[in-house]
Amino acid sequence: MGGGVAKMPTVLWLLLGVVVALGVAASPAQAARTNLYDFFVKETNVTRLCHEKAVLAVNGQFPGPTIYARKGDVVVVNVHNQGSKNITIHWHGVDQPRNPWFDGPEYITQCPIRPGASFTYTIILSGEEGTLWWHAHSDFDRATVHGAIVVHPKLGSAYPYPKPHKEIPIILGEWWNADVEQMLEETKRTGSDFNISDANTINGQPGDLFPCSENGISRVIVEQGKTYLLRVINAGLTNDMFFAVAGHRLTVVGTDGHYLKPFTVDHVMISSGQTMDVLLHAANGSAAGNNSRYYMAARTFATNTQLPVNNSTATAILQYADAPPTAGPPDLPNLPAVDDLAAATAYTAQLRSLATEDHPVDVPAARVDEHMLVTISINVLPCGANETCKDAPINGTRFAASLNNVSFVSPGVDVLDAYYSSIRGVYEPDFPDRPPLFFNFTDPNPADALLFTERGTRVKVVAHGAVVEVVFQDTALLGAESHPMHLHGYSFYVVGRGFGNFDEGKDPATYNLVDPPFQNTVTVPAGGWAAIRFRATNPGVWFMHCHFDRHTVWGMDTVFIVKNGKTPDAQMMPRPPTMPKC
Ligand code: C2O
Ligand code: CU
Repeated sequence: MGGGVAKMPTVLWLLLGVVVALGVAASPAQAARTNLYDFFVKETNVTRLCHEKAVLAVNGQFPGPTIYARKGDVVVVNVHNQGSKNITIHWHGVDQPRNPWFDGPEYITQCPIRPGASFTYTIILSGEEGTLWWHAHSDFDRATVHGAIVVHPKLGSAYPYPKPHKEIPIILGEWWNADVEQMLEETKRTGSDFNISDANTINGQPGDLFPCSENGISRVIVEQGKTYLLRVINAGLTNDMFFAVAGHRLTVVGTDGHYLKPFTVDHVMISSGQTMDVLLHAANGSAAGNNSRYYMAARTFATNTQLPVNNSTATAILQYADAPPTAGPPDLPNLPAVDDLAAATAYTAQLRSLATEDHPVDVPAARVDEHMLVTISINVLPCGANETCKDAPINGTRFAASLNNVSFVSPGVDVLDAYYSSIRGVYEPDFPDRPPLFFNFTDPNPADALLFTERGTRVKVVAHGAVVEVVFQDTALLGAESHPMHLHGYSFYVVGRGFGNFDEGKDPATYNLVDPPFQNTVTVPAGGWAAIRFRATNPGVWFMHCHFDRHTVWGMDTVFIVKNGKTPDAQMMPRPPTMPKC
């Protein structure tokens, strides 16, 4: 905070706009607070795995600063780009009602913030309560530009579980010794796959199973008999992860900023983009024969066995403050194997919304206006004339990815501006509701001809208030794989999941329309499908994409344009005059 004096007039203008637009009541008990932050994004030297490199970081911190707010608050963040490349920041899981302008994805809702420039984001919290996060939404900058958003209950409201003694963000990430932006450039040029990460990280540290990593290992100090809330975030670029704490079970109480019916597990499976709020009861500290230190550990969960995988284990230490120190290494938790699809599926099947009077669900059950079946594929495209392609599975091609066989092309003007100002030729409003061809999507030996995709900037336009159902269908093209599909601007109900090809006649009968989890990122199972539903009541332009960054840049994306409704409170806010130019 602080340091934003010069920007005050803009901030005040924006706040005024928000207050007027939201019609915030004057009642002091209800008034949303506004929290101000300054983010200075610049190159910072960081040493991991015996390698020093300059990474982009916010305020010199990696992971970056935590944003704290209460439900319904407005957060204003002045982002100062003091680095040498274009960036944007996204507030992952914040619905931003009527406020797509400040959502963040580059060339979708804004043009990037140029080096030396600043941009002030207004982040409007509404129904979210729990853990969300923020991250860069430009190129691969998210690798090191990310942090937690903690949303506490409103003043006077309580958690739907006993108040934890302390709350601890646990940010899972990935580390590359190489420069990630150079890596991205290289793969764009050659059409090859990305190098796997050199380590997973917990709060920015790989932990002491890695060389040169003993001193930096992150530690969580606990007191015997107290309960802690771990706010686990998977900020990884390419991996889902298993997470566990030796000697302790975890009670899962929330995901993606919404409460769950509590359930207790030995390990968590968290997809890239998701958050899991878990309670840890520190019961084991001084029991006879017990260690006073335990490893917390994170390991990749990866389903595509045709690809190389980082199967190393990141560690942090859970340490009892009041127990006598013990010699020897801490115990490691039992984590499922890196490709244990059954363990991941069993975990995810337990997610159910809390669904109480204080935290009700509102599942659209009666009617669906837009039925979409969206296939998810890794593909190839012919190698371009000036490109030297390598590594792709068919000669003369490069890797690509698609939704319904459309490989999304990022436009040069943001889609939101094109929509708002009716600029033609930026996108086509014809993203298909079905795949162009029905085949056995999960057949492990597909014909080569099926691997080819087509490029386009094709978006799906829906009426305000429409009930949308999207069934994501994984395909086995270049290997079945779990994909964490993320939608901006909305949380959605995950009403069904299953393996094999989705059966329109049979599978909807298995939907959970009573207490499905309310998330912003759904784990589509490898070789299977997942169905989500949402009411399109948030007008704007909203990115939808796989949260694995290499799939995002390969085109596993599309955009929802949700039209304005009739009443003023069903319409997008006007374009702020401060938007960066392309
Ligand atoms: Cu967490 Cu579009 O991103
Ligand atoms: Cu993916």
